[in-house]
Amino acid sequence: NKRTKIKALLATEPAGQEVTVMGWVRTFRNNQFIALNDGSTNQNLQVVAALGLLDDETLKRITTGTSLKVVGELVVSQGKGQKSEVKAVSIEVLGDCDSEQYPLQLKNRPSLEYLREIAHLRFRTNTFGAVFRIRHSLAFAIHKFFNDKGFIYLHTPVITASDAEGAGEMFRVTTLPFDNPPRNDDGSINFKEDFFGKSTNLTVSGQLEGELAAMAFSDIYTFGPTFRAENSNTTRHLAEFWMIEPEMAFYDIEDNMNLAEEFIKYLIGYVMSNNREDLVFLAQRLADEEKQLPQDKRSEFGLIEKLIFVQSNAFERITYTEAIDILLNSSHYKKKKFQYEVKWGIDLQSEHERYLVEKHFKKPVIVTGYPAAIKAFYMRMNDDGKTVAAMDILAPGIGEIVGGSQREERYNNLVERMEAMHVPVEEMQWYLDTRRFGSVPHAGFGLGFERMVQFVTGMTNIRDVIPFARTPKNCEF
Ligand code: 4AD
Ligand code: MG
Repeated sequence: NKRTKIKALLATEPAGQEVTVMGWVRTFRNNQFIALNDGSTNQNLQVVAALGLLDDETLKRITTGTSLKVVGELVVSQGKGQKSEVKAVSIEVLGDCDSEQYPLQLKNRPSLEYLREIAHLRFRTNTFGAVFRIRHSLAFAIHKFFNDKGFIYLHTPVITASDAEGAGEMFRVTTLPFDNPPRNDDGSINFKEDFFGKSTNLTVSGQLEGELAAMAFSDIYTFGPTFRAENSNTTRHLAEFWMIEPEMAFYDIEDNMNLAEEFIKYLIGYVMSNNREDLVFLAQRLADEEKQLPQDKRSEFGLIEKLIFVQSNAFERITYTEAIDILLNSSHYKKKKFQYEVKWGIDLQSEHERYLVEKHFKKPVIVTGYPAAIKAFYMRMNDDGKTVAAMDILAPGIGEIVGGSQREERYNNLVERMEAMHVPVEEMQWYLDTRRFGSVPHAGFGLGFERMVQFVTGMTNIRDVIPFARTPKNCEF
């Protein structure tokens, strides 16, 4: 197979050399000019079929969506808009595409909503080509970042018997029959007869297992799918999403914040240097989309200016208590513009997070010291006895993008907190063992991968940055 990908081909000097390319037709003009795309880049390759090269039968078969094998010469383009083009010597149709039925034949740009319904074909559009090439780049950059720092990539299980976040938002995994499951004397379902001999779930986070390994390797990270049965139909929630969770022994909350900030900036920098073309395309797409919005809803900066700004400025760092004060003293609050109540102790709602980030600071904000009552059992209690060493990073346009904390490494404090929060201490001896055998201060965080992809690509709906979205009442394929 001597095939060359279009990206590589467009990067070589045209000198009449013979090339073989394969791809899908984007457009076909004047029975002569084919714009061919193979997904390696957003750029289409112009293939020129000299009049007479193709018989009438073949000419009819070449329509948008048709797949082709082209052999020809790479030459300097006569037309505007591209440096080189392929002068075809032979064109073979690999797969026909019925233009009457092909959903991407539409002359007008199809809406994102419509493309969501044909998620199996939307990869072939410029927008989704750009989004998923960037998604790939980010995944690669994540491994590179941690590998360069000597972190171990740890694979944590998808099926678990514990609720890492203690939020009770788990999908059950079972092989018991639904119509007549085995029951205990009191009528409850007898999970002893289930596949694993107990009740099991899809993981909500790999953190607890990550902590176990960090107690040996010092620095680890997980990067895998996580599942949450929270019934949130928003543009930022998925039932199945990917999370990156580094866990570091000998780190305190300060070290944790520093690493998270460095990490986010690294990822932005990586995409800016490796996915220029796709970013420029998406920035233009976003600008076009925003033109439809009323003036006051448009962003001040374009996508790329935003990324450069975030990459080159320190994130704001405030405590939860300071955040509440800012909200209470805002004109927004005085004009009763917040839908949800603001007072010390509340879980910050997305409207609060967005106010802090987009209206007040106009940059990413790291909030620390949340009330213990609204955060997970594993977070380290601060000396005040009412806040924990938590840290959330809030990003413009997204809200919470990272959630993390210094962990409670003191055995007695941890058990006390588990009991107070009704976490089954008996069943989690394996977790407590790390606090019994050489416990050390440690910390970690979770970056929501799709929210990061949203942030970098400027896509407003999280369903448009994962190939196949799972959301309430929606599981196609
Ligand atoms: O804040 P969360 O729930 O934290 C954890 O799961 C910790 N175990 C992480 C850790 O310390 N190792 O989730 C972390 C991040 C959020 O900040 C958000 O970006 C993302 O995961 N996230 C979601 N993304 C998409 N859809 C959902 N339903 C999400 N829930 C959380
Ligand atoms: Mg969180």
